[in-house]
Amino acid sequence: MTTIYDELRASHASQRRLCGSLVRTQAKNRERREEVMRELRIELAAHAAAEERYLYVPILMFDMGLDPSRHALSEHHAIDELVEELQELDPSGEAWGAKASELVHKVRHHLKEEETKFFQVSGKLLSDAQKVRLAGQYRKDYERMLGVVAER
Ligand SMILES: [Fe+2]
Ligand SMILES: [Fe+2]
Repeated sequence: MTTIYDELRASHASQRRLCGSLVRTQAKNRERREEVMRELRIELAAHAAAEERYLYVPILMFDMGLDPSRHALSEHHAIDELVEELQELDPSGEAWGAKASELVHKVRHHLKEEETKFFQVSGKLLSDAQKVRLAGQYRKDYERMLGVVAER
């Protein structure tokens, strides 16, 4: 059975792939930078929204889930701000590369912390049936949100 964690890890794999592509882009190829950045922006925003709704909201109801969910949501917000800052920079300009590395560093740190800490804590709070049900709910909302954030 597919659980919420299988779905979340699949999104994390796309994010890691896109982060790798982003840092490999070159200043002389601004279209490529814009294209990878757009894909990463959409993936990050759709994943964060659906993950907040179908992983962090359910565990927020438990005392043990309070700290991890607050921490994760604050990191999602910090990542959003870095995306916005990067979008304001010129992709062929000097500051872009450093800001892109900062974003990638933050994303990689966040994924690792979720996979090594928050998934474990939440795994103890959610029932097996919930983990399976949340997988479907996550996937549906994530796919819908891909369309919503692409319009932004
Ligand atoms: Fe997250
Ligand atoms: Fe995540």
